[in-house]
Amino acid sequence: MKQITIRKPDDFHVHLRDGYLLAETVAASARCFGRVLVMPNLQPPILNAVQAKLYKERIQTANPCNHNFKPLMTLYLTDSTTIQQLDEAKISGVVACKLYPAGATTNSQEAVNHIGQLYPLFEHMQKIGLLLLVHGEVTESQVDIFDRESVFIEKYLQSIVSNFPKLKIVFEHITTRDAVQFVLDSPETIAATITVQHLQYNRNDLFMGGLKPHNYCLPILKRSVHQQALRDAVSTGTSKFFLGTDSAPHEKHRKESSCGCAGCYSAWSAIEIYAQIFEELGCLDKFERFASENGAHFYGLPLNEETITLIKQPWQIPSMISLATGQELVPFMAGETIQWKLS
Ligand code: NCD
Ligand code: ZN
Repeated sequence: MKQITIRKPDDFHVHLRDGYLLAETVAASARCFGRVLVMPNLQPPILNAVQAKLYKERIQTANPCNHNFKPLMTLYLTDSTTIQQLDEAKISGVVACKLYPAGATTNSQEAVNHIGQLYPLFEHMQKIGLLLLVHGEVTESQVDIFDRESVFIEKYLQSIVSNFPKLKIVFEHITTRDAVQFVLDSPETIAATITVQHLQYNRNDLFMGGLKPHNYCLPILKRSVHQQALRDAVSTGTSKFFLGTDSAPHEKHRKESSCGCAGCYSAWSAIEIYAQIFEELGCLDKFERFASENGAHFYGLPLNEETITLIKQPWQIPSMISLATGQELVPFMAGETIQWKLS
């Protein structure tokens, strides 16, 4: 196959950041995605409707082109989020709330310490139709970092799912066989996003031939059996799995550091790498559903009308992106050649 045209995809998990970075990140996502679900873990985080609205305006102002590009906004849950904040968010068009266990990942220090105490909020979200997005990792230091997702399922997620049968929950950026199985065994109200890095790589790619800070993200890359479970999950074409890149830029010097930041900046090439993976798996026929339909259906959104075309033409991902403001970003799979290109 030399080219493939699909309905315009959506990215249901992206970190656009703020300020000078918006010009870069918005352009990189708007080149191919119709809608992006914008994560709220700014510093300070997006805690209420007013902040979400102002952030959305900054994103829209940064959109460089006339592409039909729509940011969907989310709220960052904390121990002190109120019912009133949820109501105001819903009215203002916020679509979901993100649960970060405090300390689980980048800019999550101010997030949730006592998940059980959020149940009245979940009850209310279920009632008014706000989705719950979950960063599913426990943070207890004695739990091995490679087990944090599976322990979270047992310790928290199972009980959230069974207590709120009408609450729509997205288990974000799943990384394990356990998570795939949990989502498949759960009711229709539970779905999951899958990133390009967790399909493309396993934990060897963090350590082989030297430490690879640009492959460090959270949840961390897992063993190859887990990578394979994710690849199997997307190749079945099940509607419960959909595209969320988790594209998460950090400046080069913050990644290449004695205490490096977690996050892969994949927006430059994510759609192309997903296409390459689906082709490797022999399931390009399932690609459009994963990228452009399953997520929209789950969120209750109309499908995008436009299309994008990818052509089979090798190209090299840049080894570095230098911003006009002087900062440097290293994109995911920097310097590597991939087989599909956005036309
Ligand atoms: C994300 C970030 O940098 O904001 N990092 C990451 O490794 N994925 C946060 C997140 O989604 O966990
Ligand atoms: Zn993320």
